[in-house]
Amino acid sequence: MIVFETKAALAKALFPYRERNMPTGFVPTMGALHSGHVSLVEQCRKENCVTVVSIFVNPTQFNDRNDFAGYPRTLEEDTEKLNNTGCDFLFVPSADEMYPEKDTRLFDFGALDKVMEGVFRPGHFQGVAQIVSRLLDVVQPQNAYFGEKDFQQLAIVRHLVRELHYPVTIVGCPIVREPDGLAMSSRNVRLTPAQRKSAPEIARTLFESKKKITGTPVDELKKWVIDRINSRSELKTEYFEIVDRNTLQPAGEYRENALQGCIAVHAGAVRLIDNIAY
Ligand code: PAJ
Repeated sequence: MIVFETKAALAKALFPYRERNMPTGFVPTMGALHSGHVSLVEQCRKENCVTVVSIFVNPTQFNDRNDFAGYPRTLEEDTEKLNNTGCDFLFVPSADEMYPEKDTRLFDFGALDKVMEGVFRPGHFQGVAQIVSRLLDVVQPQNAYFGEKDFQQLAIVRHLVRELHYPVTIVGCPIVREPDGLAMSSRNVRLTPAQRKSAPEIARTLFESKKKITGTPVDELKKWVIDRINSRSELKTEYFEIVDRNTLQPAGEYRENALQGCIAVHAGAVRLIDNIAY
């Protein structure tokens, strides 16, 4: 694996592949890699001639300073994991390299960012779009891999590449979970033992809600999910929405294979998100 710190050096190394029409696959990350990230890299390897991973804790997508400051940074372990997974090129730019000057672009996501994460993390998706578009400009991949764990982010990125006419296929990859169901996240390491013990209640409740969805009105089911999770003293639900899988707008009633349940929960200082297909 070759490590690059500058856009110019990475772009130069990728040029021969593009010239020969050999597909480049790209997995953008913020590091602190776990098996969820690794699954994206593995899928990328299967479908491309060259696999590029980026690690960059993007300051512009954090609306909470403490979350940015406390975000885990484990470059040495990450490098080893990527080496073992067969990543070809690792891109680890500095903040100055990615943002030589302030990014003042404003992206329009229509209704997609007027709900859920877009409401509770103002500006977050503007920051995601800034960095994802800049990274796509450098790597110019044929395929880029994103996890369904960040369901709304995936929808936003699909919208972004359509609007900006990027010739890239966005590949959505399934959520990887701990054996007890908790969705893997770089932030899980910040949970206290008591919070970690309660956290799987989120996934368990989502799985249970899937069994109930056909026979329960949507509003009743939403309340049931929120109450059950909040009954754990370590957990506090920020939102739980049942939305149309494509438009992300709240659904009034059940439609087969069309809905997604999306949740954000605070466990002390840690914010966890998860979702389920109905
Ligand atoms: P990060 O949180 O590091 O996640 C990188 C990619 O891994 C995202 O596409 C995310 O959805 C995916 N991922 C995280 N946990 C996963 C899990 N348990 N199962 C499957 N996939 C999972 O998302 C970001 O970084 C940033 O917003 C980024 C897109 C890199 C832009 O800065």
